[in-house]
Amino acid sequence: MKIIRSETYKDMARKAANIISAQVIMKPNCVLGLATGSTPIGIYEQLIDWYRKGDLDFSEVTTINLDEYCGLARNNPQSYCSFMHNQFFDSVNIRPEHIHLPDGTNLNAKEECERYDQLIAKIGGVDLQLLGIGLDGHIGFNEPGSAFELGTHCVELTSSTIEANARFFSDSGEVPRKAYTMGIRTIMQAHKVLLVVNGKNKAEIVKRAFFGSVTPQVPASILQMHPDFTLIGDAEALAYV
Ligand code: F6R
Repeated sequence: MKIIRSETYKDMARKAANIISAQVIMKPNCVLGLATGSTPIGIYEQLIDWYRKGDLDFSEVTTINLDEYCGLARNNPQSYCSFMHNQFFDSVNIRPEHIHLPDGTNLNAKEECERYDQLIAKIGGVDLQLLGIGLDGHIGFNEPGSAFELGTHCVELTSSTIEANARFFSDSGEVPRKAYTMGIRTIMQAHKVLLVVNGKNKAEIVKRAFFGSVTPQVPASILQMHPDFTLIGDAEALAYV
């Protein structure tokens, strides 16, 4: 595990964007595993800036997102598909056919999860997986207690995650209760994993996840076992490290 300390959120985002751009430059047809949430927003902004300056080209890149809410149409403003288009895809030259997210409108969970796992295998697996971390240690929507060996699956979100995500909805009753998520097995199979974290409310979980024991109760803790795992945090999130 490699730890990169940043003073500020902006610096954290720039350092993470540097690693992603190095991946894209070294392997233009790479597969990027991407995350939503508030933490990566600054990374996407930085990548867009470098793209606009002509320093980055996404024309051969394939993306595969970690997760999507069940039951939301792709064009629902709260879907992760909409988030990714607004924050990143619509501002760079990535080809629409190279963009992949779980299909939240397919309510046949078995079929959708199999489709996503087969797709990940077909595109050759993930070269670099970007992750955030939830307050309870979740990665993707792999909540505490998730089996480490799972592929894509459908999860019932915990009350803590529903509460944390309620800020994006006008009414907490609208937050979907289920989601499709890439499993930890798939995340661990990525060649490189990059987890970004900021803010003092994450300091405690950072300590537990990366400096405590490896346990399904803290899903992100399994990343300690990944051969190429980088953690980039701001000063507040790394306060106890
Ligand atoms: C997002 C995802 C989640 C988030 C996590 C942290 O695709 O899979 O695991 O990374 O909930 O979210 P933020 O960055 O909003 O604190």
